[in-house]
Amino acid sequence: MALPTIAILGTGSYVPERVLTNDELAKLVDTSDEWITTRTGIKQRRIAAKDQATSDLAAAAGQAALRDAGLSPADINLVIVATLSPDMPMPACATIVQHKLGVPQHAACFDLNAACSGFLYGLDTAWAMLSSGRYKHALVIGAEKLSAFVDWKDRSTCVLFGDAAGAVVLGPSRGDGARIIGSRLYSEGGMKDLLCIPNGGSAFPPDNNSVSNGGHFIKMKGREVFKVAVREMEDAIEEILEQHGLSVDQIACVIPHQANLRIIDAISKSLGVSLDRFFINVDRYGNTSAASVPLALDEARKAGRVKRGDVTLLVAFGAGLTYGASLVRW
Ligand code: UT7
Repeated sequence: MALPTIAILGTGSYVPERVLTNDELAKLVDTSDEWITTRTGIKQRRIAAKDQATSDLAAAAGQAALRDAGLSPADINLVIVATLSPDMPMPACATIVQHKLGVPQHAACFDLNAACSGFLYGLDTAWAMLSSGRYKHALVIGAEKLSAFVDWKDRSTCVLFGDAAGAVVLGPSRGDGARIIGSRLYSEGGMKDLLCIPNGGSAFPPDNNSVSNGGHFIKMKGREVFKVAVREMEDAIEEILEQHGLSVDQIACVIPHQANLRIIDAISKSLGVSLDRFFINVDRYGNTSAASVPLALDEARKAGRVKRGDVTLLVAFGAGLTYGASLVRW
């Protein structure tokens, strides 16, 4: 049996209605619109409602991606949700999303945590599973409700993060040349203290102390993360282009993880690619971790930045530190 060529058949995204501006944050912590804008490029972010969990954002994005692909939930037999903020430690958010979407029970559903690189890890995993011919259509979703894990008293982190979800449907290429060209994943373990949620897992289970000390919130050494992130994403881009014999000029649009405009700018300078070839929406959503790349990808397609035949480069880094890059032809 010839093994199938796998392509992205549809994209979708969802952002909560509530917009939180820099000026509003300046009333909560000692910060300013000027500081946040010049250091990060972020102007606003979205915050999920109290009664919205990550699975709600994920299901909405998944539904939009299915519509875009012209498929129904019954066509899906693999659901992967990349997230660091699942509804609860168990069951997997993907099973809750399955139920909300009405994906049938013959589907394999699981979560994957590679922090902000999670979507690229999910894409690679689904690509491999579909390429085997054992699964036909996959829904790969990056979804986060980071507002539930942000310390709203810590100005060094609370200005950065937001809530969102993005999704793609993967399946056999429809004979139009569209396909996933390649994917490279990496991890530099040993840097967990640069970016983590220290408590709430098996190493430090939640107790009254951990809650009052804020150990269940995101902790980050921002300056150190910044430097490693730039190096890692540059390496990932250079290696994947070399592996596939492509030059940077053949990339129509780069869709980077949206953590900080200065990080994207540093990569654009070191690669010699002008910033306008990158798709950027960090100004509107901040850092939405695993949702960041698929949300940007969906918006880039809707904005006409990704056309038939184009090759796009997706690149991300995150806690772990994990990082990776993918090449996709449309
Ligand atoms: O998905 C991966 C997630 N993480 C990242 O991508 C983060 C990567 N790092 C960054 O984006 C940047 O390092 C930050 C935006 C987090 C920080 O920018 P920075 O230019 O590296 O600032 P810094 O941490 O070196 O802090 C500079 C100053 C400090 O004051 P002093 O010590 O110079 O007096 C901070 O206390 O800015 C202060 N500061 C703030 N001031 C106003 C830190 N946060 C704020 C704030 N408002 N929100």
